[in-house]
This record gives sequence, structure tokens and C-alpha cells, in this order.
Amino acid sequence: MAADDASLEALGEYALRLVKPGHTIGLGTGRAASAFIRALGASGIKVRGVPTSTPAEELGRSVGIPIVTLAEAGKIDTDFDGADEVDPRLNLIKGYGGALVREKIVAASSRRFVVLVGYEKMVKRLGDRGSIPVEVVPFGVPLVTAKLKALGLKPRVRESDGKQFITDNGNVILDCAVKKIASPARLDRELLAIPGVVGTGLFIAMADVVLVAEASGKIRVLKR
Ligand code: A5P
Repeated sequence: MAADDASLEALGEYALRLVKPGHTIGLGTGRAASAFIRALGASGIKVRGVPTSTPAEELGRSVGIPIVTLAEAGKIDTDFDGADEVDPRLNLIKGYGGALVREKIVAASSRRFVVLVGYEKMVKRLGDRGSIPVEVVPFGVPLVTAKLKALGLKPRVRESDGKQFITDNGNVILDCAVKKIASPARLDRELLAIPGVVGTGLFIAMADVVLVAEASGKIRVLKR
């Protein structure tokens, strides 16, 4: 079971209390982040948004949020994004939606990073839902695949509608099946050291606040 659309809409509404007029906001990608973007547009609060992907940009514009580039924005006040896994230390896996690199850049450019998830994303250990996305320059896929296997991972090139999935940055994603990750921070360093790897879905010590839509309908607030 996963949080339903109504719970995510309520989560998006709840997150508005962390938005101040005049702020520059990071606009995340995925179902939960989209619920927030819709709530933000409907609220009429005067902000500007830096999108993490083409779909986030299109949705932001469609609900009337002025869109700026990261270069125009400089610093971002608060980034609101979803996640695929959240561990008890609020480390994350992101990127099942394919926007991990821009998501990490926007999160790292933000004074505060707020994560919106349904209860099903809370895990005991990162990797529990089975996979870490890694974005790779297409030319480097053979080398990166071999190196990932040597690290004990099982990489598979992501496909969408029968074709290779291409990110907003023109790269491919290797979804790496994992069993147990002893140290997510060490694994992240090892992955980033492979030539051709552009970014990983491991977001270590980045989230400041996690808002969880519980099965009961309540919202739990977790802070790092
Ligand atoms: C996009 O690349 C992802 O990191 C999403 O933020 C993540 O997959 C969560 O998406 P949902 O809210 O759709 O589950």
C-alpha cells in the first residue's frame, strides 16, 4: 500500500506553512512534489520557483508560479521534493523518477530541504526497497557497469516505453539492485569515483525536514 492522492494533496497543503512570500522555492519532481506545486500555485503566495525537471517546470508554469533558472535565483530559500526511501537518520534514496542530478543540485543550493513522502517510503535501512539509481554519461556505460558489478551491485539500464530512458541532462540511468548497504556515505563516495558517473540517488545528510503522510491520515514531522 502507498499513500493515496488525497493524502499527498493534504501533505502538499501542509507544507505551505513552510513557505514565506518573496521566497525562492525549489520545485521537486514526482507525485508528492507535484501535489505541493499545485497547492503552492493555488495558494497565490508570491514566490518564484526553480524546477528540478522539465515536468516540474511545466507544472509550475501551468499553476502560475514564476519560473527562474538556478543562475537567476542564486540561493534558494527552501526546496520541496519527494523521495523514494527515507532512513531513520533522514538519509534518502531519490531518482526513481529520473531527476536525481538536478534534484541534488537544487537541494544543495537551498538553505532548507524539505522532503514530502508517504509512509511507505520510510525504511529501516537505505536499499530496503531494492534499488539505487545512478546517472551515467552514455559513453561510460560499459565501464560503469563493470565497476558497479565489482562493487556487488546489479545494474540495469532504465527503459521507458521500450526505449532507453534519457534524463533531462542527456544521460542514462543505471538502476542498481542492492541488498544491504553497510555504509551509504561510503557507497556514495565509491560510486562517484567511477569515471562516467554523473550523480547518484543517495542523498546523505541533506534533508532538514521530512513530512510523512501517515496511513492514519495524520502528518508526521521529522527534523534532522
Ligand atoms: C524523482 O527523480 C524522484 O527523486 C522523486 O522525487 C521520487 O521518486 C519520489 O517520487 P514520488 O513522490 O512520485 O514517489
